[in-house]
Amino acid sequence: MKTILITGCSSGYGLATARHFLSLGWHVIATMRTPREDTLPDADRLRILPLDVTDPASIAAAIEASGPIDALVNNAGIGVVGAFEATPMEHIRKIFETNTFGVMAMTQAVIPQFRERRSGVVVNVTSSTTLVPMPLAAAYTASKQAIEGFTGSLAHELGHFNIRAKLVEPGYAPTTRFADNTSVRIEDLIPEAYADFAAPIFEAFARPAMTTREIDVAEAVWKAVNDVTGKLRFPAGADAVALSGAA
Ligand SMILES: NC(=O)c1ccc[n+]([C@@H]2O[C@H](COP(=O)([O-])OP(=O)(O)OC[C@H]3O[C@@H](n4cnc5c(N)ncnc54)[C@H](OP(=O)(O)O)[C@@H]3O)[C@@H](O)[C@H]2O)c1
Repeated sequence: MKTILITGCSSGYGLATARHFLSLGWHVIATMRTPREDTLPDADRLRILPLDVTDPASIAAAIEASGPIDALVNNAGIGVVGAFEATPMEHIRKIFETNTFGVMAMTQAVIPQFRERRSGVVVNVTSSTTLVPMPLAAAYTASKQAIEGFTGSLAHELGHFNIRAKLVEPGYAPTTRFADNTSVRIEDLIPEAYADFAAPIFEAFARPAMTTREIDVAEAVWKAVNDVTGKLRFPAGADAVALSGAA
């Protein structure tokens, strides 16, 4: 029986992915900044551990407590929507600490055990913003695009040790906590000079033609974890799949 460690399982795509792997018989280590027992089914194969991917001591403790794992899913992430000019550098650094350096730190923490065992898979959850440039998402896109390049390159050296590295690229899900899980207000990131530009974009955001469901991401992570064909990118959700065809 295999074991998967997933970051950011308190809600959204991470929670759905934890449920999916549990339902398919895996041992699941669901990690959260603030552990909650009530969101996942009661199962012997489930462990919930505290983990903040921006904190090296928290990463070391979670990896130590986890024991051997077969798969790591770097799902934890935060967003920012707004005019780049108005986005505080402090917040941009925070985005990168979670979405980019957090992913790298987690990956570095599991490589030694994967390399020794000559097996393992790292799945990094990025975004459909990496498929086609989208407006008012420059800083967020940069944080995810970095992980696209990182993962593609890393897959080569890890492949030498029979370790796989994959990307799951979800589209937009209005149903997760993503839009609310931020310390900045969108209104503060759209200065008056950008109001005319931003208004139709926010109208379009409010009525998306296609969206992504949590289960789409869970299923894409499942495919990525089990893929041995060398495929790198797994778009997830109807909107992301359509964009990946257009890209
Ligand atoms: N929803 C979308 O439209 C969308 C589209 C494309 C890609 N994505 C990506 O999909 C992933 C999951 O997002 P989601 O939509 O499921 O949003 P979500 O419901 O807000 O879930 C994000 C998770 O990340 C966790 N997290 C945030 N910072 C963390 C940190 N420093 N350490 C550990 N965990 C942390 C959150 O935990 P707390 O409860 O502790 O805050 C939460 O569990 C993210 O990487 C996001 O960038 C989302």
